[in-house]
Amino acid sequence: MRVAGKRVLVTGGASGIGAASARRFAAEGAHVAVVDRDAERGRAVTDELAGRGASARFYRADVGDPGVVGDVVTQVAADLGGIDVLHSNAGAVAGSTVEDTDLADWDRVHAVNVRAPWLWTKAALPYLLRSGAGAVVFTGSTSGMVGFPGAIAYTSSKGGLLNLTRSLALELAERNVTVNAVCPGHIDTPMTRGFFESPDDPGGLEGRLAAHAATVPMKRLGRPEEVAAFVVFLASDDARFCTGGIYPCDGGMTAA
Ligand SMILES: NC(=O)c1ccc[n+]([C@@H]2O[C@H](COP(=O)([O-])OP(=O)(O)OC[C@H]3O[C@@H](n4cnc5c(N)ncnc54)[C@H](O)[C@@H]3O)[C@@H](O)[C@H]2O)c1
Repeated sequence: MRVAGKRVLVTGGASGIGAASARRFAAEGAHVAVVDRDAERGRAVTDELAGRGASARFYRADVGDPGVVGDVVTQVAADLGGIDVLHSNAGAVAGSTVEDTDLADWDRVHAVNVRAPWLWTKAALPYLLRSGAGAVVFTGSTSGMVGFPGAIAYTSSKGGLLNLTRSLALELAERNVTVNAVCPGHIDTPMTRGFFESPDDPGGLEGRLAAHAATVPMKRLGRPEEVAAFVVFLASDDARFCTGGIYPCDGGMTAA
């Protein structure tokens, strides 16, 4: 029970890495608040956890909407009696090049991937400070660590998120709030599957995923649970001396 009793807010917790994180936090004894814009899948996750006797609640919100952040964070803190951990995980993707990316795509992706992590951290900060062992974990991406063509708004937003991680870590280092980022490589989630879907060739999805996996040194896609395990460690008291870290979880991709 690595995080027993900790009060945890996970954004994007209805699917993929966020859902795996909510499940792992709950399994390790935490009280979990799942925030997502997808109420149906979000409630399915928290119902599943509650059915197993865990403490889990769902809150519907678009994390990119600055108008709702304060209210949701206040409600979560009231329901859980505080907040010890923020896993800011929800992300938006656009698979387009410099020429194909339009202003709306650029702004949408940056609003969710960089602005929201800052806004949710800012709103949660009074509670994280009161916790005495506050932890923020961002879901970054290896595509924020190295260049990656064909998703220009996504990669620049994740690069921004990684320097937000370092800067926040330094601002909060003496106030007992750690800030770290886990950087998944290629993980088998609905986001990844959506990225490789092709209306002209729906049957070719598995082949395209296999080709994608072949580019990973370990020759496979990662599982959301493998990222979640790392997130829970960074939020635990075992990691109190770790802050400002950018940690790949990528089957060796960024080692190459
Ligand atoms: N899957 C990968 O290979 C991979 C690689 C690197 C980084 N990531 C990052 O991991 C994070 C999770 O991605 P995933 O692969 O689990 O995707 P996913 O699509 O399975 O899950 C994302 C969840 O976030 C929610 N969400 C998205 N935008 C939201 C918004 N504006 N407000 C509220 N909820 C919102 C979605 O409803 C969904 O439940 C993202 O930040 C993504 O960039 C994923």
